[in-house]
Amino acid sequence: MQRLIPALRQQHVSEGLISVLHTLQTASKEISFRLHQGALAGVLGSTLDENIQGETQKKLDVLANQLLKDMLLDCPHVAAVASEEEDSYVVGAADGDYLVAFDPLDGSSNIDINGLVGTIFSVLKKPADSDAANMFLQPGDAQVAAGYMLYGPATMLVLTTGQGVDMYTLDQTVGEYLQTRSQIEIPAETSEFAINMSNQRHWQPAMQRYIGDLLAGKQGPCEKDYNMRWIAAMVGDVHRVLSRGGLFTYPWDARKTDKPYKLRLLYEANPMSFLVEQAGGLASDGEQRIMAIQPHDIHQRVGVILGSRSEVQRCLDYHQD
Ligand code: F6P
Repeated sequence: MQRLIPALRQQHVSEGLISVLHTLQTASKEISFRLHQGALAGVLGSTLDENIQGETQKKLDVLANQLLKDMLLDCPHVAAVASEEEDSYVVGAADGDYLVAFDPLDGSSNIDINGLVGTIFSVLKKPADSDAANMFLQPGDAQVAAGYMLYGPATMLVLTTGQGVDMYTLDQTVGEYLQTRSQIEIPAETSEFAINMSNQRHWQPAMQRYIGDLLAGKQGPCEKDYNMRWIAAMVGDVHRVLSRGGLFTYPWDARKTDKPYKLRLLYEANPMSFLVEQAGGLASDGEQRIMAIQPHDIHQRVGVILGSRSEVQRCLDYHQD
């Protein structure tokens, strides 16, 4: 089984980018170790603080964020980092070529129940002509690499550098990520969907009709029975979609008019869309490809519909009507 770095060299990935990805994999091994120690490491539970998103911070959110930030800012190829847990981006090496946006611990409400969580990352090139404040405001199409580490029963790294999607599993005996699946393809058809059904009454009518028709099963217009899954960590739900197909959506919600979407464009939607498109799937906000969106704020939120091509298209057709 191939190790991560030789696999990247075989794909002719630049040494600078390899160094950034190497740093991310090193940080993830430490996070994985702490998570697998669970209560023994004394890091479960919440801090007394809220993050910039107004969410309660878990101790492990803070720890993972600090670890990634410190290690990435130590890498000579990283010009700046932006984290879901930080108010603003943080500047790194003056000669660095790369920008890294990350969600240090996605799905952190799962930490205390020993459920799935993960680190999601997106790597951009530092634009030559942009001032510091706008460096990260690039559409997802500009990403040069993206992926996530899933801290499950096995720790996995799922990565794209724009040459398809490969999956690696952390071999705990040697401390290396080994390639266990390559060139992932999401099946175009599926009968599995993931959505937080408890919010149904707050969705737009198009999403209400679409999910209503899925629930109607064989007797409904889709003429098949569907299965529903909800891990409550995007990283886990998208991993299932990449592994065996499905549709994942976190739609518009009428409750907060100033914040109708939950997921963040830079740290969650863009990197996951890059992976999904590289694996042959679709990723849309309901109106356009997520990766075509020009961001105006590093903490911007967006609607997400992604996964198996035919099923995402079916959902989008309801939105066009
Ligand atoms: O963005 C945070 C997140 O944990 C996502 O990973 C996940 O899809 C979502 O929130 C789950 O939120 P809820 O279960 O509250 O709808």
